[in-house]
Amino acid sequence: MADWPRPFAHLAARHAPCHPVLMNILIVGSGGREHAIAAKLRRDDPGATIYVAPGNPGTEGPGQNVPLAASDLAGLADFAAEKSVDVTVVGPEQPLADGIAEAFGARGLPLFGPSRDAARLESSKVFSKRMMRDCGVPTAGFEVFTDFDRAADFVSGIEPPIVVKASGLAAGKGAIVAESVDEAHDALRAMLVEERFGDAGREVVVEEFMPGEELSVFFLCDGENAVPLVPSRDHKRRFEGDRGPNTGGMGAYAPVADGTADLVERARLEVADPILQGMAERGFPYRGFLYAGLMLTPEGPKVVEFNVRLGDPEAQVVLPLMGASLAEPLAAVARGESLAGWEAEPLAGSALVTVVVSGSYPGSYPKGLPMEVPSDLHGEHVHVYHAGTARKDGQLVTAGGRVLGVTGLGDDLEGAARRSREVAARIRFEGAAWRSDIGHSEIGASSD
Ligand code: AMP
Ligand code: GLY
Repeated sequence: MADWPRPFAHLAARHAPCHPVLMNILIVGSGGREHAIAAKLRRDDPGATIYVAPGNPGTEGPGQNVPLAASDLAGLADFAAEKSVDVTVVGPEQPLADGIAEAFGARGLPLFGPSRDAARLESSKVFSKRMMRDCGVPTAGFEVFTDFDRAADFVSGIEPPIVVKASGLAAGKGAIVAESVDEAHDALRAMLVEERFGDAGREVVVEEFMPGEELSVFFLCDGENAVPLVPSRDHKRRFEGDRGPNTGGMGAYAPVADGTADLVERARLEVADPILQGMAERGFPYRGFLYAGLMLTPEGPKVVEFNVRLGDPEAQVVLPLMGASLAEPLAAVARGESLAGWEAEPLAGSALVTVVVSGSYPGSYPKGLPMEVPSDLHGEHVHVYHAGTARKDGQLVTAGGRVLGVTGLGDDLEGAARRSREVAARIRFEGAAWRSDIGHSEIGASSD
């Protein structure tokens, strides 16, 4: 039996007799986050069998791809049963919102991820805001509307900026920070009258604007305990200087100067713990990754949103800095065990990811462009994570807006940024573009 990673020694001592170290793991998803999860689990357990469904060309390396869609809940459960998978970990939110935890639970298959009811923390902003209010979690004040006239009346009396959000899942496009009452009316009309967000926009949340810097803190949750991972910050705007349209994320870095140990502890005590307690009391205990998107306001951290998964690209900097095993806590929680006393043991140093995108992203972009990723790029201090790539007749081609994430590791953020940018510059495909200023507020202009 291999040695247990040190931070998990206490659990190892408790569970070693009945649980083998060499695990069968199934990762559901196909993006950069899932590649980063696969790479981390491979480091944790070099002997593990790691399946990724459906995966991408990058996950064929740390793992083996399985041609099952993330939406094929029954097919995934059949596969997990057939291969005696010890833990299935779910990357994206949609399968969780669709009830993958129930599909697996009904068959006694261990899975790390919240139930459909618990996943409403992300899939319903109305639910999420009411939970925060009821549990005393600091967040922006809000009102819920289904009727356009009432909503329009309400925002007419508010000083902009005005935040309007579709309640349901809207692929990151459902939050509008309106700079004028007219713009807020347009957003409300698009959601409640024109139904441009489909079902997701039938209910809207209008909320108070919170000034401040944002910070993402991810917690590993077992239903009762929340273990924080290293805080990170992503850059959502397409262009340098944080300008232009919002994207899924053009880059991220960790740790973040504002994300001090005190701040993280405060987020655990004021945000994660009360939410976990409230969810458990209401009969839907929260097990899985909990992503707390925080605004660091003058009054302290307040929640902008919860997600029920790891962020992407943030996972591409958070996981490489995780010193403790990820495989073990995932498996432990999936078996119904506790994470009490467990810590993520962040590694020293910094990580910074630059996302290489198709030039016209987040607008429409061509797919299937041949790409060149020199084979010597990946190394001890650089990880190249595939996000939107595919293989066509043996050739690596683009298959998404966000194509690759290039994570640099360094003793400090400057070193991490330099490595990330040097390698991003060597990725070639038609129209390849990336931001050279990820982490700018902490690095300063001179090192760019
Ligand atoms: P969300 O989809 O809720 O994460 O919102 C997307 C982005 O909109 C956030 O990352 C923030 O930059 C911004 N945002 C959302 N809600 C607020 C708020 N109440 N105050 C200020 N900015 C916000
Ligand atoms: N990078 C933001 C997200 O994953 O939602």
